[in-house]
Amino acid sequence: MPFKLIEKSQQAKEFSYCPYSKFRVGAALLAHDGTIFTGCNVENACYNLGICAERNAISTAVSHGYKNFKAIHVISPCGGCRQVMSEFGSDWDAYLTKPDGSFVKMTVMELLPTSFTPEDLKKKTLQKSN
Ligand code: THU
Repeated sequence: MPFKLIEKSQQAKEFSYCPYSKFRVGAALLAHDGTIFTGCNVENACYNLGICAERNAISTAVSHGYKNFKAIHVISPCGGCRQVMSEFGSDWDAYLTKPDGSFVKMTVMELLPTSFTPEDLKKKTLQKSN
């Protein structure tokens, strides 16, 4: 399966809209039932509104009713994307994949240990005494 995902992420990269960084990124996300969702980075003239490839892939999957993921292939997720990945669990795999197809496999937990998750929102916050 990693090879299929590599192929898909490389195809998605072709659609990258990156006129500012000129850095093309594609991501391929494998859902629990074998469905693959892809995404590319989409930049904007208002630079901070650019969206990373993996975040687009995750948003597309969620938009299609998918929230259980097995793996994602992408070059190397930024901190913000690691947080977005951890929203959907910490026990799934990220393949940090170079353009030559070589990769390092890490869990979402390894990418962002002790992250803030939906579980944390269920905990009580410290209350002011007054
Ligand atoms: N980028 C991604 O889409 N994913 C990554 O894993 C790393 C960085 C994008 C964001 C921006 O459009 C460009 O790469 C340069 O940072």
